[in-house]
Amino acid sequence: MSKIAIMGAMPEEIEPLLAKVEDIKKVEYANNSYYEAKYKGKELVIAYSKIGKVFSSLTASTLLEKFSCDKLLFSGVAGAINPELKIGDLIIADKLCQHDLDISIFGHDFGFVPEGAKFVESDEGLRSIAKEVAKDNELTLIEGTIATGDQFVASNERKEFISKNFQADALEMEGASVAVVCDALNVPFFILRAISDTANDDAGMDFDEFMVSSAKISAAFILDMVEKID
Ligand code: ADE
Repeated sequence: MSKIAIMGAMPEEIEPLLAKVEDIKKVEYANNSYYEAKYKGKELVIAYSKIGKVFSSLTASTLLEKFSCDKLLFSGVAGAINPELKIGDLIIADKLCQHDLDISIFGHDFGFVPEGAKFVESDEGLRSIAKEVAKDNELTLIEGTIATGDQFVASNERKEFISKNFQADALEMEGASVAVVCDALNVPFFILRAISDTANDDAGMDFDEFMVSSAKISAAFILDMVEKID
């Protein structure tokens, strides 16, 4: 049976999960808290990393290497780039990239470094489970590219840069770093985000208003997926 890692970046992204799971045991490790728990007979390890690519890489690595999780699901919020995505809508990443990784001065594409890849693909099997859950619950799920960077984007200019160079549909601050870790360690992963803002001038205000409600939408969907994972 699988041992499933579920991670978020912020406390608000995992609190709705901790409210629903059972037999919680808290383990402190590497300046972070990990919650071993059960949900509908499935073994889980839940954690939030803190914001950004470095903290999320550390937490993803720990979930896989120390806690021996064999699948990783990420739940959280994102800023929309694709105009079809409205606040509260769900997006799953088919691939992810780092929009702030830049050695373009040496002639490389934005987001590319030697021996890396511009895009990392998420697991198809987990994506098809997500599509089943969306169908069962009559929810719209957009599948697209998620761009990650160590910055909260609140400008149309930066949004356009990311759209033009990565054709991304949404942006956030952890997905691609988690993807790189899981890909390197050969562990199937899945990144889900509910939209909290549209990364424009109003993004800060929208994020404050909608982050908690969107994080709940994402967490509820993830738990529905857990039920369907073998
Ligand atoms: N997560 C949610 N909204 C975001 C934004 N506008 N920029 C970066 N990460 C986000």
